[in-house]
Amino acid sequence: MKKIRIVFFAVAAVSIIALISCDKKTTAVDTNQAAYDAADGVRGARLYDHALNELGITGKAANEHSSYYRCKSCHGWDLLGDQGVSIGHTDPQPAPVDLMEVRANDDIDEIFDHIMATDGPSFDSFDPAHKNEMPGWGNILTEDDAWDLVKFIKETAHDVSEFYDMDISSGEPVFSNIGKGGDGAAGLATYNANCSVCHGADGTQIDIYCQGEYLGDMFRNDPHEIQHKAIWGMPYDAEHVNAGCTTAGMMPAQNITDQDVRNMMVMGQDENAFPGAGGDE
Ligand code: HEC
Ligand code: HEC
Repeated sequence: MKKIRIVFFAVAAVSIIALISCDKKTTAVDTNQAAYDAADGVRGARLYDHALNELGITGKAANEHSSYYRCKSCHGWDLLGDQGVSIGHTDPQPAPVDLMEVRANDDIDEIFDHIMATDGPSFDSFDPAHKNEMPGWGNILTEDDAWDLVKFIKETAHDVSEFYDMDISSGEPVFSNIGKGGDGAAGLATYNANCSVCHGADGTQIDIYCQGEYLGDMFRNDPHEIQHKAIWGMPYDAEHVNAGCTTAGMMPAQNITDQDVRNMMVMGQDENAFPGAGGDE
């Protein structure tokens, strides 16, 4: 009886020691995983759109050249880089990396380290010779900001093929099947309940960037941008507000689903209900 009890205690002690040492080894990983779990992918979406505006950073050279300091400018609204919707752009040139592949293949620590690198172009001076290179985000983002971006890339960002088809074989994007499988009548109900208060019943109450473009134009010509902004909103639009555009501002994130976005995309193909400037197509 005594013997059995001693063996039992010995086994228990060994397993407790094993547990403690195992815990020690994984602490670094656990800290990162905890930061990732606590991160906000919707805020990440807004940082991806325009980190300087989302963070309220002003007075830097980067503000004057903001298109070189927005993730979406180099990586695309679709994350697909130079094989996506930004194909053919020159200012800046889209990056030769596919962040949807990064999402599939890289772990959170690798993505975090890449974003937090400090050796890229500076925010205090603008050097045209390096304008297409990944800025040194680690000089300006907090770790929490970077984790929000990791979460956006890893989880929140859409696989845009669930929203539309796109052909880039001609060297520029041609969209089809916008709002894949959506229901326009359901979209109108969502629009009336959530959007019309600001954008107006036919989408013309906000003149986008004061350039005579309306939501109808965007639904038909810019589904890549709609799939992002319609649900995650956009940061305060400092550039256009400062330029005197009175309808510019910020748009709060919307409490709607991806299916609601597809439904509204179908709704927005109706040029009578959602008139526009005519647009490219
Ligand atoms: C001016 C263009 C530019 C901007 C702006 C930019 N990037 Fe990049 N990014 C690049 C280029 C070019 C590469 C590939 C070369 C490299 O890794 O630096 C890259 C690489 C990356 C990678 C690594 C991909 C891999 O191969 O593992 C990640 C992740 C990334 N960028 C995220 C971001 C995020 C998040 C932002 C915004 C906070 C951003 N980038 C802004 C140009 C840019
Ligand atoms: C509280 C007011 C408000 C609500 C509600 C709202 N928006 Fe916006 N939206 C704005 C403002 C302000 C802008 C930014 C205009 C600017 O500065 O360019 C904007 C911009 C946008 C843009 C991008 C246009 C651009 O500037 O590139 C899209 C797309 C958009 N809204 C769609 C929607 C949809 C769809 C809904 C409903 C699900 C919605 N919005 C609800 C105020 C609102």
